[in-house]
This record gives sequence, C-alpha cells and structure tokens, in this order.
Amino acid sequence: MQCVHQRPVVAKMKQTLLPDDLSMSTDPSPDCELQAAQAEIAELQQQVAELMMQKDDLERQVDERTAALHDARTELLRGERMSALGQLTATVSHELRNPLGALRTSLFMIQNKTKDKELGVERALGRADRSIDRCDHIITDMLDYARTSDVQAKMGNIDSWLDSVLEEQKIPEGVEIRRDARNPEMVVPFDGDRLRRAIINSYDNACHAMADEESGKERQLTIKSALNGMRFEISITDTGCGMDDATLDKIFEPLFSTKSYGVGLGMPTIKQTMEQHGGGVELTSTPGFGTTVVLWLPTEAAALGTAAA
Ligand SMILES: Nc1ncnc2c1ncn2[C@@H]1O[C@H](COP(=O)(O)OP(=O)(O)OP(=O)(O)O)[C@@H](O)[C@H]1O
Ligand SMILES: [Mg+2]
Repeated sequence: MQCVHQRPVVAKMKQTLLPDDLSMSTDPSPDCELQAAQAEIAELQQQVAELMMQKDDLERQVDERTAALHDARTELLRGERMSALGQLTATVSHELRNPLGALRTSLFMIQNKTKDKELGVERALGRADRSIDRCDHIITDMLDYARTSDVQAKMGNIDSWLDSVLEEQKIPEGVEIRRDARNPEMVVPFDGDRLRRAIINSYDNACHAMADEESGKERQLTIKSALNGMRFEISITDTGCGMDDATLDKIFEPLFSTKSYGVGLGMPTIKQTMEQHGGGVELTSTPGFGTTVVLWLPTEAAALGTAAA
C-alpha cells in the first residue's frame, strides 16, 4: 500500500481540495499515521541532534574566547609588569654603576700599593676584582634587556662591522675561531650598538658551552655570514655541550639560566634586538655535539619600519 506521509492538517486540506477518486489515496490509514508519526519523530530527533551540535559548537567557541581573553589579560598584566620592572631595572642599574666604579678604582689603588709586598692578599684582591666584573656584567645584561627603545638603524657594510666586533672579543684558550664571509659586500640596515650586544651574547654563550668540555674534544667556533633569500644571516656554531629539548623550550624566558653564574637575560635580549630589527633568531642544537645560533636581518630597510640613514 502506498503511504503519503503528511501531517494531519495537511492531509485534511488535501482531502477537501482534491477530487474524490484522488483524495481517497491520501486518506490516512492507521499504518500511515504511524509512519507519519515515526517520520516526525525522526525529524525531531535530527533537529535535536543538530541543536546539540550547535550547543557543543557554541560551548567550544565560548571556551576558546574565554581562553583568548585570559591570555590577553595575562599578556597585558605581563606587559605592564615588564614595563614597570624595566624602568626600575634601568634606574637601579644606573645607580649601582657609580659605587661599583668607586670600588674598582679603590681596588686598583690597593692592588698597586700591595704589589710585590707579599702580604698574602693577592688572591682576595683577585676575587674582589672578578666579583666587580661579575656585577658589571649583570648590570649590563639588565640594562640591555630593559632597553625598549626603537632600533636606530643605519645602512652599513655588515661584514666589515662584524669583523671589527669579533676582533674585540677574547679568544678562550684552546678554541679555534673560523670565519666564513660569503657576501662581504653586503649592505643592510642595522643598529650597530644593539646588534653588537646580540653578537657578544651569542659569542659568550658559545664559549661558555665549550669551556667545560673534556680536554680531548675539538673546540671550534665558526662565525658564518651569508645572504639567504631576503635574509642576511649570521650564524655562530660551537662544538660545545649542546642543549636538550627542555632547555631549548625555555631558552627565551627571561632569567632562565643553567649556569651558576648566569643571569639568564642573554637570549631574551638577543630575541628582542633581532625582532626589533624586523629579523629573528633561530637555534639548532644537539646535546653533546654543539649549537648553531642564527641571527638574521631583513635585507630591506622597509622591514624595519624606519628610514635607514
Ligand atoms: N651555545 C649554547 N650552547 C649550550 N647552551 C646554551 C647556548 N646558548 C645558550 N645556552 C643555554 O641557554 C641558557 C640561557 O642563555 P642566556 O644567554 O639567556 O643566559 P646565561 O648565558 O645563562 O646568562 P647571561 O644572562 O649571563 O648570558 C644558558 O644558561 C644555557 O643553558
Ligand atoms: Mg648568556
């Protein structure tokens, strides 16, 4: 038997509108009514399922928005805290520089006066000297990190500038330095003062990583510079201790350090400096084999958002 699934009202209307012979075929039998009810239930069930899906989707969206709002709030608070911390750091660091300078001068005088007198104070004076250096290093790190001003980029020959920065650095005993300049004529916009700190921080980290290596191991520090597409890349590769994934994950967190004497601001400062140049920093490392840090600069002045001089 052919059944037409119609709701009762529609079935009734058809009965009155259609000629008798035709309307007969739409007359709802109990079976038809049952099937119509089943169809209606199925339709309702589908609507309920769709509503549930929409509800789930809405809940997911609410969760996502809540998480985004929470992140934005945390970021805002972090930004405010960092800015207050930055100002405080800059002030305190500046204030500390003066007494530290006085200590250094006094120590120098004492060292001169006690020289060759065999008073047995040489080691203590040496320790005091190193401690002053250490304090100076911490202040420099903090001031570098607290600097949030825009980079003052000027067009310049990056390779000859890099050579001059490298010439100023101490070469640790037993370390072989290799220099590989692929595009020595390259001219790019950069802030020499800021980039210098990024190079020195990377260089120091590479030297520290090789300092505790067992005596038989080769110690090489390779500084390569090359144009790579639209980037000018300076890579610093060491054959030091390398890093595991846990260290790599935290390396840009301010104050993260695995060294007993480390401040943990070197890498965050490098990242900040490179990003302010419109570039970035990338790391690859293998525990026990070494690390490569790539500092890259955009080759176009436009990427900096500042007019190069
Ligand atoms: N070339 C490298 N090889 C191995 N580990 C490295 C290297 N560079 C950085 N690290 C790891 O990353 C950590 C953070 O480096 P970062 O320069 O920020 O701080 P730090 O060197 O410990 O202290 P400082 O602020 O005095 O530079 C280091 O403590 C070290 O564990
Ligand atoms: Mg460091």
